[in-house]
Amino acid sequence: MTTPEIQISPDPATLAEEAARRFVAAAAAASAARGRFTVALSGGSTPRALLRLLAAPPYRDRVAWDRVHVAWGDERCVPPDDEQSNYRMAREALLDHVPIPHEQIYCIPTEEPDHEVAARVYDATLRRLFNPDPGEWPRFDLIHLGLGPEGHTASLFPGSPALDERDRLVAAPWVEKLSAHRITLTPPVINAAREVAFLVAGAEKAAIVRTILRGPRDPAEYPAQIVAPTDGRLTWLLDRAAAAHLD
Ligand code: 6PG
Repeated sequence: MTTPEIQISPDPATLAEEAARRFVAAAAAASAARGRFTVALSGGSTPRALLRLLAAPPYRDRVAWDRVHVAWGDERCVPPDDEQSNYRMAREALLDHVPIPHEQIYCIPTEEPDHEVAARVYDATLRRLFNPDPGEWPRFDLIHLGLGPEGHTASLFPGSPALDERDRLVAAPWVEKLSAHRITLTPPVINAAREVAFLVAGAEKAAIVRTILRGPRDPAEYPAQIVAPTDGRLTWLLDRAAAAHLD
């Protein structure tokens, strides 16, 4: 079982700085070792401050953006210009401001009306990006994840059949709570990463952070507990408010 590194920052702004420093370091290490850096961004609102930091000096100038390949851990089934789109948030906060080659940005094709087709297209995109050996999983250098108040991560929600997916890279589960489908990386892809970093801020997450990190293991109920990289680092980047219930 992966022992997580837990890093607690005083406030959300310092948390974003810590995450930016780690992003820069991970990008440099991956580029040096493999000539590129493959990262899956998280959705939601927490990552926005981090992405904005990366879009401006000094962090922008410390990343070899021509070597960065950006994908997403999950996406809402909305058009890419919808205000709910994780892609739109990342484009506005980061991608419009850094010189990543357009062909190195791997959006989840939500303009495809059939969510199952969208999942299959994204699955094929990832297979082309990583060209995994038979029986191997694509291995992102870094996957960012957020944490929902009830313990979901990416778009792996409590009770989701996607939690049991062991063959496909990408699933398109119905999320009862949202009355919507989502597109999400599956647990085997997440757990194949060289590093998975949760980015969690705010007092409203303190109880669920404690449950995930200190509570009994029940991934069906608390999907974030399924994240345990097989041969990679697990990092929890928290602000003090989100870490308040950790002893
Ligand atoms: C999404 C996510 C989701 C998110 C958490 C936390 O598309 O919403 O990927 O897993 O990371 O719900 O969201 P906040 O950062 O907005 O609290």
